[in-house]
Amino acid sequence: MSNAADAIESRSRLRGWVPPAGYDKWRALPPALRPVEPPPIPLELTLLLNRLRLCYARRAGPAILEQAAAEGWDHMRVLMALFAEEAVGRDHATREHHRKSARLPSGKTFEAWDPSASAIPLDAQWALRSLDWIGRAENLVLVGPSGTGKSHFAEAIAHAAIDHDLRVAWFTLESLTATITRSRIDATTGEVVTRIVRSELIVVDDIGLLPAGADEAEALYRLVDATYERRSLILTSNLHPARFDTIFPRGLATAAVDRLLHHAHVIVTEGQSHRLAEALDGRGVRPLISAP
Ligand SMILES: Nc1ncnc2c1ncn2[C@@H]1O[C@H](COP(=O)(O)OP(=O)(O)OP(=O)(O)O)[C@@H](O)[C@H]1O
Ligand SMILES: [Mg+2]
Repeated sequence: MSNAADAIESRSRLRGWVPPAGYDKWRALPPALRPVEPPPIPLELTLLLNRLRLCYARRAGPAILEQAAAEGWDHMRVLMALFAEEAVGRDHATREHHRKSARLPSGKTFEAWDPSASAIPLDAQWALRSLDWIGRAENLVLVGPSGTGKSHFAEAIAHAAIDHDLRVAWFTLESLTATITRSRIDATTGEVVTRIVRSELIVVDDIGLLPAGADEAEALYRLVDATYERRSLILTSNLHPARFDTIFPRGLATAAVDRLLHHAHVIVTEGQSHRLAEALDGRGVRPLISAP
């Protein structure tokens, strides 16, 4: 309870307020264990639910029991409601955990996506948004000039996949290379790659924007090889994979691209940069001073 609430309580006691039965026991519990309202479910039940780590049932318990009493629910319905609350709460928490560990860069989803403003054909957009291709361990390569929505579309797909209880890992070529290179120091590359490949969808964003060398090529090859026919990859690049040998050492590039493209949807995003269009439209920034 906050200090303000403490003060209100002690003032109420001074004015002669008598706490209801069980209040002091409820008050003595650590805040995380307190039911929402004092004390609508028995303390013993609260402690049991807590011990069994049924925290969503514990939190929703008071409201469910109140509604059950008011509407005369039978025991089966009460149990169903409590366990359903627990299941929904756990699913939500797992999903949010997946979202956090995916480290998606900017929170862009399909809510902010304008399908008609994209060069990706509409039927391809809808087919990709269905996520069926992830179940088939197919890859998606988004190729096109800067500002044409490649990263936005990839991130929106990643969010949608997480919403469908899939695990996602997001990398740039630099962060993937740093992860693989670091693992070479303590000879844990195999473990690190295995951990990455636990995700059903792995994204490598913005290939070709920064110079790449042997380390980048090795990192990409290891990932493509480990995911081949097992997991889905999304790659975004300004360069078509067929031309990756112009930025990566040729041997590794050929081997990686061969595996990558075997089961891949290659989508070209053409057109003008959305960033440039917004900037030229004056929508790139909010005015610093509003008009009088
Ligand atoms: N179809 C679209 N609907 C809504 N916003 C879009 C769309 N396409 C692009 N944008 C917006 O345009 C900006 C640039 O898009 P994005 O970063 O995805 O481009 P990119 O192709 O990845 O560019 P780069 O190659 O430079 O990384 C972003 O703010 C993005 O939200
Ligand atoms: Mg991008």
